[in-house]
Amino acid sequence: MQNLGIAITGSGSAVPATSLENQRLSELVETSDEWITSRTGIRQRRIALPPESLSGLATIASRQAISAAGITPADLDLILLATSTPDDLFGSACKIQAELGATKAVAFDLTAACSGFVFGLVTAAQYIKTGVYQNVLLIGADILSRWVDWQDRRTCVLFGDGAGAVVLQANQSDRLLGFSLKSDGTQNHYLNLAYNGSSQELIPGINVTKGTYEPITMNGKEVYRFAVQRVPEVIDKALFQANLSVDQIDWLILHQANQRILNAVAQRLNIPDHKVISNVANYGNTSAASIPLALDEAVRQGKIKPNDIIATSGFGAGLSWGAAIFQWGR
Ligand code: ACO
Repeated sequence: MQNLGIAITGSGSAVPATSLENQRLSELVETSDEWITSRTGIRQRRIALPPESLSGLATIASRQAISAAGITPADLDLILLATSTPDDLFGSACKIQAELGATKAVAFDLTAACSGFVFGLVTAAQYIKTGVYQNVLLIGADILSRWVDWQDRRTCVLFGDGAGAVVLQANQSDRLLGFSLKSDGTQNHYLNLAYNGSSQELIPGINVTKGTYEPITMNGKEVYRFAVQRVPEVIDKALFQANLSVDQIDWLILHQANQRILNAVAQRLNIPDHKVISNVANYGNTSAASIPLALDEAVRQGKIKPNDIIATSGFGAGLSWGAAIFQWGR
């Protein structure tokens, strides 16, 4: 039987045990709970302490998603890990594959910063829709605390660590109703975690570059402007493809960057507050993890029910942005 539709059949999530409240950040930089809360809506974030690892968090989230989908790791054909902060620059997906015992699955990393989960969702769906694979595990996970400059108050207050996962399965009807993905590298310089190397002579006539990645740098105002303009546009595009109107959306799950961005996007789209899922107050911006983390919490709280229509959008470094409209469950 050829199934050319996809369904998202299970979710899971995991965050580090340690919370870092806004107040404690004022021990590090000149800031206040009042400033952070009023500008971002963030009250606390989770921080991965050594020896916590990205693959460890991702494995916990994955086990939950696999069990919620009613399958076993041995059923997986593909594992996609959306992350910008792997434990190993060569990738962490294979480590997760081994920890899960997903012996049949091919596993690889996908890097698209805060758009990673939405880009991964669309990528995973293509493998299923072409009939190549039946069961795909998609993980969004990031440990940005490793890459934050803890002396830079403009960025260190924004980010947190976490992991979320979903299982996509071949399905008779297609529950991915529409999507749109975008990139604009001309604005790349607004948000970076860049490699900074200098030339070193290896042997006469041959120089190599030696250096390291630098902490995150961001032009907050430009990223804000970009998000509130591009995200409503791309959601509109995905809705058009799905042949749905805004009022048919049950839930809006945006990348949890900042409560002000969530509010502005919802307002531009005319989506009422009670349909907007937000947990940014508790976790800050967890990059590729933020959408599956918010999704999983809402599913476990019983907010999101089978057949609900969800509009999701990821946006961030690249710059990159994208939206997907899907129906929850089979
Ligand atoms: N505490 C206290 N003061 C601060 C802090 C802080 N943590 N950070 C900045 N300030 C100060 C600045 O130094 C500045 O002071 P000055 O006027 O004396 O120079 C003042 O506050 C205003 O700074 P702005 O940067 O103009 O503050 P703004 O109102 O733009 O808010 C913010 C900053 C919250 C970062 C906002 O621009 C924003 O939300 N941008 C979007 C960023 C974002 O969400 N990025 C992630 C999305 S993409 C991704 O997820 C990877």
